[in-house]
Amino acid sequence: MFWSPDCVENIVMGINGQFPGPNIRARAGDTVHVELTNKLYTEGVVIHWHGIRQFGSPWADGTASISQCAINPGETFIYQFKVERAGTYFYHGHYGMQRSAGLYGSLIVNLPEGEREPFHYDREFSLLLSDWWHQSAHEQEVALASNPIRWINEPQSVLINGRGQHNCSLAARFSSSSKAVAQCHFRGDEQCAPKILSVLPNKTYRIRLACTTALSSLNFAIGGHKMVVVEADGNYVQPFATDDLDIYSGETYSVLVTTDQDPTLNYWVSVGVRGRRPNTPPALTILNYRTTAAIELPKSPPPVTPQWNDYARSVALSKKVLSRMGTPKPPAKYDRRIILLNSQNKVDGFTKWAVNNVSLTLPSTPYLGSIRYGLMKAFDQRSPPDDYPADYNINEPPSNPNATIRNTVYRFDFNTTIDVILQNANALSVNLSEMHPWHLHGHDFWVLGYGEGKFTDKDAKGFNLKNPPLRNTAVVFPYGWTALRFVADNPGVWSFHCHIEPHIHMGMAVVFAEGVELVRNVPAEALTCGLTAKMFLNEDSKA
Ligand code: C2O
Ligand code: CU
Repeated sequence: MFWSPDCVENIVMGINGQFPGPNIRARAGDTVHVELTNKLYTEGVVIHWHGIRQFGSPWADGTASISQCAINPGETFIYQFKVERAGTYFYHGHYGMQRSAGLYGSLIVNLPEGEREPFHYDREFSLLLSDWWHQSAHEQEVALASNPIRWINEPQSVLINGRGQHNCSLAARFSSSSKAVAQCHFRGDEQCAPKILSVLPNKTYRIRLACTTALSSLNFAIGGHKMVVVEADGNYVQPFATDDLDIYSGETYSVLVTTDQDPTLNYWVSVGVRGRRPNTPPALTILNYRTTAAIELPKSPPPVTPQWNDYARSVALSKKVLSRMGTPKPPAKYDRRIILLNSQNKVDGFTKWAVNNVSLTLPSTPYLGSIRYGLMKAFDQRSPPDDYPADYNINEPPSNPNATIRNTVYRFDFNTTIDVILQNANALSVNLSEMHPWHLHGHDFWVLGYGEGKFTDKDAKGFNLKNPPLRNTAVVFPYGWTALRFVADNPGVWSFHCHIEPHIHMGMAVVFAEGVELVRNVPAEALTCGLTAKMFLNEDSKA
């Protein structure tokens, strides 16, 4: 559809005539039923329910070529899955770069009737954070896959619930930059007009944050107000107070904000970019005490986003996220440990990202079908490496930049405990190592620790087995490592990837499979493509 997410008209991938897509609200224990009709003219589509584990419904995970075939134009696919656990989630396209095109929305699961959260709040707001380019997702896909690569650069805008401002700023009068920015004037019904958070004094608000950015790491702050973090990725955390919060692509949080400031004033809500040299103004909206006229702008400038490259600050913040008492603890021992080196590489001159030197490209037959039915020809049956060469220097660009393109799968014995160590390294240019927020489908993992440099066995002694947070997304910081543990107890095939969309597009992903022989009741429509489609045809002709 034509839409103006940041006051500049563009084309977005919308749902039901809306951008972002409709909010989905369910109650823990519900079965959610979504009929997705593909009204795109010439391309397939799927939708992934980010943070929902899909126990017993791995075919509904919404990953093209992994859990299902992309849905063709004109076709309808029915997703049916159970939401087991209350929390803040979202959904998004998982085919090509359709997330970057705007295919996303929020998904919130309430507690079952009669149950109460372990914290009090009066009302809530839900903020879906994203980044937006004026270049189309198609152009980005081609640009990234060109030789030489044409990098997509920083987004034009950061959006809050699909709304940002490109040619004007709400805070123009505080702008110190050399280029004058126009003051925004809104009637209020524009597609890009900010949604004001209207509050009453002396109440507590739960703000649900979900970050579905294609690229940007964000920092969220409300002028003059502290917030208390209580939930991360659908799990309760040990509450902690902070002035601002880093939020990476794929993460969700709930924070509590108490409206205890001067009710005659208004306050900025600001979402700025971190982790890359910013070239995008922060997204802004206003916290309006209902005692004040909403149109009145705050009297002081918006909160300043912390230095983009102050990684020590980011690490310290991530380490504050610990699980709340009563959260399941990780098994004390692991059965298998895999170390995944994150590197930027070249394949025949094309720029790629790789994991242990393998850059993933997806096969045409979804893994869930090919593994379930033993179709060995559907993908490369070799096991991808569990480690990287001991003499690899993570502080320098790769001495041999060449990686291989493969579609191999890590297969786990069912119900075993897996440790994954994400190891960061220098990218292709000197003195550059980027942050990567890794997201696991089908599971939560415990984040056992973050460290600097090369992970060694000794580092495992420092793992937090007492109160590690349970999450589905965790960042590996520049030149560092991040240790995760999870139990391979969910029959299915699951993507594990950097949530930065251009990075996935360039191969920064792996595939995990466990207990696939236990998978039942996969609807045929999920697998009517590639070699599984052929298999169905043969069965039909035999019958
Ligand atoms: Cu939200 Cu595989 O991603
Ligand atoms: Cu990445």
